[in-house]
Amino acid sequence: MNKSENNVASYSIIGFGHIGKALAKAFARKGIKVSVATTRDPESFASEAAAIGPGIIPATLAEAVKADVIFLAVRFESHPDVAKALPSWQGKTIVDVTNAYGVAPEKLGGLPSARFVAQAFTGGRLVKGFNHLIAGILDQDPAVHGGRRVVFLASDDDGAAVEVAALAEKLGFSPIQLGGLSEDGLLVQAHGNTWGKLIFQDLVKFKS
Ligand SMILES: NC(=O)c1ccc[n+]([C@@H]2O[C@H](COP(=O)([O-])OP(=O)(O)OC[C@H]3O[C@@H](n4cnc5c(N)ncnc54)[C@H](OP(=O)(O)O)[C@@H]3O)[C@@H](O)[C@H]2O)c1
Repeated sequence: MNKSENNVASYSIIGFGHIGKALAKAFARKGIKVSVATTRDPESFASEAAAIGPGIIPATLAEAVKADVIFLAVRFESHPDVAKALPSWQGKTIVDVTNAYGVAPEKLGGLPSARFVAQAFTGGRLVKGFNHLIAGILDQDPAVHGGRRVVFLASDDDGAAVEVAALAEKLGFSPIQLGGLSEDGLLVQAHGNTWGKLIFQDLVKFKS
């Protein structure tokens, strides 16, 4: 099901490892349906999905890429394989949760890692985000100490950034828009053996 069918955005998570499961828990906490996919037969991780919640739907990659908003929660090296699942990503919003730590900058043609990923997902609208928290923190309820855990978002597409910020709010996080991928968005991208300055910063925002 996608937005064009019922005017409600549909969601999926590609990758059901540490980060994919942490994201799935965030959806389950708020009762929002999300499909989850790996390279494996969905049957093989159906019980793990069910343990998180009834709205976590095991799917094949081909099924999961039908969603409107797709979280990319695979190792950086695996993103080209996911990108091959569709000839065009037009109409899709991709949330890039990967960290390209340790990837030689020359392998990225000098581009920031998220722009390199965006190139692979031709026609898609890419938002870098949810990648600055380690899985063990992302896994937890973002409502902490009377505030909400921050997620940083960066994109070259303002509309996509607004869409993902609204979803982050629905999931209980406090989104902070950094700007473009080659600007302040660099703060959440690893470059070679250097982490972006905001990666692994665990911030909580309080209502003023
Ligand atoms: N772990 C952290 O604390 C952390 C924090 C921030 C960001 N990140 C980033 O988040 C990403 C995922 O990290 P992780 O720790 O969750 O890794 P992980 O535990 O190794 O999980 C990777 C997942 O991706 C799936 N996968 C691999 N290739 C695929 C493909 N071609 N199509 C569909 N699914 C595929 C794997 O499924 P199979 O069983 O089929 O291989 C597995 O479920 C990485 O880019 C990492 O840098 C991680």
